[in-house]
Amino acid sequence: MTASSQIRRGEVALRHLSKTYSLNGQPLPVLRNLSLDIRGGESLAIVGPSGCGKTTLLRLLAGLEGADAGQVVIDGTPIAGVGTERAVIYQEPRLLPWLSVLENVAFGLELRGVPRAEAQDRARRYIRLVGLDDFQNAWPRQLSGGMAQRVGIARALTVQPEILLLDEPLGALDAMTKLTMQEELARIWAEEGVTMILVTHDLEEAIFLADRVLVLTNDGTAPTVFPVDLPRPRDRNSAGFVQMRRMLMGKFGLH
Ligand SMILES: Nc1ncnc2c1ncn2[C@@H]1O[C@H](COP(=O)(O)OP(=O)(O)O)[C@@H](O)[C@H]1O
Ligand SMILES: [Mg+2]
Repeated sequence: MTASSQIRRGEVALRHLSKTYSLNGQPLPVLRNLSLDIRGGESLAIVGPSGCGKTTLLRLLAGLEGADAGQVVIDGTPIAGVGTERAVIYQEPRLLPWLSVLENVAFGLELRGVPRAEAQDRARRYIRLVGLDDFQNAWPRQLSGGMAQRVGIARALTVQPEILLLDEPLGALDAMTKLTMQEELARIWAEEGVTMILVTHDLEEAIFLADRVLVLTNDGTAPTVFPVDLPRPRDRNSAGFVQMRRMLMGKFGLH
């Protein structure tokens, strides 16, 4: 058996996905016959103008919504809804205000029946990974936006998903915090070996984090995938990075 025919954990296949909403009684096609293979452990960014269907695609991947046609196949099996091999991170971390950082991160495991002491042990490992060791006992209201989002990331990782689905996770952060968090995400992705599917409207973020960038449009033209053939860790000022940014911006008529 060759390596390419083996199914790796966290492998995702989009097979002929279509989704149409209706707006004022008129059909609003959002995804049309989208097919894509995402390798286990790959980092894929999804970019495109507002309303092009990024969140819709992520919701289909999460199993929060069904496609009109086509399938999402994970590790060889079509999904039929949400699943424990996938974790979703949103723009707002949605922490429970009455639980400490440690309790918030351990909560998902406890919901799955893991005894509290073990859940908290496992949670501590991911709190350390996101650099919040000293804040285990803090309350959510005591955290900055960036710290709260780190807690959200730790909470998602604690259940040890194969696939992380992120919908503009850094979109609400200030510019400096965002750059720091991009570096954190790059490190965490490399250390954890998870498949990362990241929706962002920030082209630089996409180039910084992704192995490939999927560009969706809202003019009915077919989506395009661009490989990011740049060494890691990525250097935002390198010639290759700047060239890639210019090329992607050009796709949106920007410069
Ligand atoms: N539940 C829904 N019902 C009707 N229309 C929707 C629904 N969800 C999204 N849409 C529409 O589908 C399009 C794509 O939305 P979305 O996936 O949220 O875009 P993006 O995340 O790229 O900004 C938009 O025009 C949006 O208004
Ligand atoms: Mg969206």
